[in-house]
Amino acid sequence: MTTSANWPLLEADNVSVTFPVSGGLFTAKKRVHAVSNVTLSIAPGETLGLVGESGSGKSTLGRALLQLEHIADGEVRFDGQRVTHGLRSDVARLRQQTAMIFQDPFASLNPRQTIGESIAEVLRVHKKVARPAIAARVAELLTRVGLRPEQASVRPGQLSGGQCQRAGIARALAMEPRLIVADECVAALDVSIQGQIVNLLMELRETMGLAILFIAHDLSIVRRLCDRVAVMYLGRIVESGPSEAVFRSPRHPYTAALVAAIPEIDPDKTLPADPLGGEPPSPVAIPQGCAFHPRCPYAQVQCRTDAPPTRRHAEHVWSCVLMQAGDNAIFPLTGGYKDEAQAC
Ligand SMILES: Nc1ncnc2c1ncn2[C@@H]1O[C@H](COP(=O)(O)OP(=O)(O)O)[C@@H](O)[C@H]1O
Ligand code: SF4
Ligand SMILES: [Mg+2]
Repeated sequence: MTTSANWPLLEADNVSVTFPVSGGLFTAKKRVHAVSNVTLSIAPGETLGLVGESGSGKSTLGRALLQLEHIADGEVRFDGQRVTHGLRSDVARLRQQTAMIFQDPFASLNPRQTIGESIAEVLRVHKKVARPAIAARVAELLTRVGLRPEQASVRPGQLSGGQCQRAGIARALAMEPRLIVADECVAALDVSIQGQIVNLLMELRETMGLAILFIAHDLSIVRRLCDRVAVMYLGRIVESGPSEAVFRSPRHPYTAALVAAIPEIDPDKTLPADPLGGEPPSPVAIPQGCAFHPRCPYAQVQCRTDAPPTRRHAEHVWSCVLMQAGDNAIFPLTGGYKDEAQAC
């Protein structure tokens, strides 16, 4: 891990985000609990992977951390300063020092602007360099992400998907960010191009000390790129820790199912849409007790009613009632606790 300081760059304490759901005329208004009580931190220069099935709340959390989503409860701190209901200057600093990269590189750039104009706009609006120096800085940023300075004059539609994502990264770098939230930023690209973009992110992390929240479906990329990983299920982080520990010894049955579903022979396999069978429950009606209990092969009677305890082994943290000891306690998907478990 390449940290330049010992304190977290970004911290979230018990952050929750909800959305109203439009109900029928006579039904009570309900809310989607997209993110529930999430606590996490990202150190300077660290890459944190965020994984989980579609709809588990990853994008909402990423946006909430950057104050792009209203936080119903909890607080976010950036560089030690509260930004949720914080001072305007602290929120402005967060906006100045963070950036987001999206899945669809074409949608994140204005199709009517040239790549150079898109990047120059950021430099101008945020007063990053003096006007006469803008063209040189645009050329420098394009080179930085592996594009040619002449490509400043082309429009997004004239670039390939990978080139366009590089241009999106150059635009994000124009902010001189300390933290980038990359939301499924390689998911729409061919596998070979994905590798190139991941290599670019790794290089930027090394050379610029960038912290990255890497939201992804592809567990093999997360394992390669990320120092730590957090696994989300129905708006909650159910397991987190150093990537190697989580991938080698998953402690939560949900993580174990995700990891077991990646065949060794196909390292590029993406997160399975249905790792455990059955639909994930709706975040409008989250099951009581452990939210995972309707799909958990190890569920016990108390899992239906009691919130699971938080367990810890060094930096590795997970929420599950089952006791596990030692480093090698990997959940097998069959056997193990299954015989002892009482089906719910
Ligand atoms: N603006 C919104 N309005 C209502 N519901 C939303 C909104 N954004 C996200 N959701 C809901 O919140 C949940 C989490 O969504 P999201 O954060 O996009 O998950 P992920 O990125 O893991 O796929 C989903 O049930 C989704 O439908
Ligand atoms: S708390 Fe119970 S239901 Fe939840 S993951 Fe652990 S065993 Fe399964
Ligand atoms: Mg998403």
